[in-house]
Amino acid sequence: MAHWDRRAESYDETPGNSLTAEQAAAWKSLLAEIYPVHRGRLLDIGCGTGTYSLLMGELGFDVHGVDTSQRMIERARAKALGCGAGAAVTFSTLAAQDISGRYDAVFSRNVLWTVADPGRLAEVVREHTTQAAVWAAVETVWDGRPKGDFKAAGKDLPGFGGWHPNVLRDEFARHGFAATTWSSISNRADLATEDKDIHVLFRVSR
Ligand SMILES: C[S@@+](CC[C@H](N)C(=O)[O-])C[C@H]1O[C@@H](n2cnc3c(N)ncnc32)[C@H](O)[C@@H]1O
Repeated sequence: MAHWDRRAESYDETPGNSLTAEQAAAWKSLLAEIYPVHRGRLLDIGCGTGTYSLLMGELGFDVHGVDTSQRMIERARAKALGCGAGAAVTFSTLAAQDISGRYDAVFSRNVLWTVADPGRLAEVVREHTTQAAVWAAVETVWDGRPKGDFKAAGKDLPGFGGWHPNVLRDEFARHGFAATTWSSISNRADLATEDKDIHVLFRVSR
């Protein structure tokens, strides 16, 4: 079984995936500021168990959460059943590179470090978004050495430990997202990002 499938069952125990009502409200308020409008189709790339897809549904978007891990998607669907925003959110076991159609907004959290070529995802987002679309991308930078599956992946995971934010900013720009800004959201207990890692929020746009 692939790494993220194996992690799915206990994934909600990882930081930022079991938000309290206050933390969920803080995320919603931050994201509400990032996106100029809160309606239309939003793509959540690498949505995992759907925690943030559901928040985005509550904000007013029609959300499509995609993830290559079938187990993650199964858990996301189960979570949506017990949630008011569930009706506005659909989940597909799908690689972002295989999406079709056009989206008005994009979200991703902790996905770019897991791919060898984040520029390829930026290219996909550009191809499948409207001119005014905003992509909120949350990434983490941490001090760690690859171990377990990640060690085996070795050089295929150059982003292990997180990309330097300027590297990602340049990748976004190279793919037509010249108006990208980023800021640290570390030490925000209200967002559940108060640990030893560095948390970065990108606002990616053309
Ligand atoms: C570290 S997890 C993050 C999950 C969730 N976004 C979160 O905030 O916790 C990375 C996820 O990205 C998914 N993923 C990696 N590459 C992907 C791709 N190209 N298309 C769709 N999903 C992908 C993995 O299967 C995994 O579930």
